[in-house]
Amino acid sequence: MAVMDKPTAPPSLDYLRIPAMPASVFVAPLRKPAGLSDDWLEPAQRKYGPEEHRIWDALYQRQIGLMPGHACRGFLLGLERLNLGRGGVPDFSEISEELRSLTGWSVVPVPMLIPDHVFYYHLANRRFPAGNFIRSRQQFDYIQEPDVFHDVFGHVPLLTDPIFASYMEAYGRAGWKALKYNRLKALSALYWYTVEFGLILEDDQLRIYGAGILSGPTETVFSLEGRSPNRIHLNVDRVMRTDYTISDLQATYFVIESFRELFHLTEQRGFEPIYESLAPAFQYAKTAALDTDHIYHRGTQEYELRGGRGSGAKPV
Ligand SMILES: [Fe+2]
Repeated sequence: MAVMDKPTAPPSLDYLRIPAMPASVFVAPLRKPAGLSDDWLEPAQRKYGPEEHRIWDALYQRQIGLMPGHACRGFLLGLERLNLGRGGVPDFSEISEELRSLTGWSVVPVPMLIPDHVFYYHLANRRFPAGNFIRSRQQFDYIQEPDVFHDVFGHVPLLTDPIFASYMEAYGRAGWKALKYNRLKALSALYWYTVEFGLILEDDQLRIYGAGILSGPTETVFSLEGRSPNRIHLNVDRVMRTDYTISDLQATYFVIESFRELFHLTEQRGFEPIYESLAPAFQYAKTAALDTDHIYHRGTQEYELRGGRGSGAKPV
């Protein structure tokens, strides 16, 4: 891989190489399947069977009707441009060709959740790693592992937006410094509350841009209309200190006014001073609404307090 043509980047910030994972950084114990290189990429997109294509179509049909009035404009535009409802699991090479011409991104197949440092490496090079499998009918309503529907329907449409596309690349690059400062957890919280579960203001109305919300019907409604969750304006320093829920609806959603604002608050300000100021652990509970927050809606937290998923609590 050519690395000599980037003389300004010191070796530790060479985005064309997978960053080294310092021994002191905790990583989830993911085992790389045999036969894959260090980049974790599968050699080709899987050939889906007819039932798997039908599962995509059913998931698409369930979700698409909810998009107007809930999803943000950039997402709707991206869905249309990429024609993700053409029938069956989309072909990665076709959507990559379209994406490349718009923003230089591509979609690449990975077998499962991949390690953070490998994920950063792909994002920094404008490659979005997408699950090379689809959920079963039994997992129709909920799957913890990101499958091709979550990754492609949820994430890929916004990669057609030039500013959001730049934010995603900047997020990947921010991973190198997070590793250096041992602040992976903080950077993950930012990803969680923006890319996965972010809300955006459009003409004074809240809309969704987070893929974790947009790939399922319950949270699409809950995040915008529920009385339980907080809705608070994004403050990057605060968000990077905030705990989050992995396998249930969020207790708090953070709102931006534009993708330009998101890019400005992170990449343009620079990640280094933020990492330097952060304590290693989270300081705020996921349900917290602080005196210093700009609060759009102070949630009742009743869904959370009644026990959330599995407790029978209604997502209201
Ligand atoms: Fe995701």
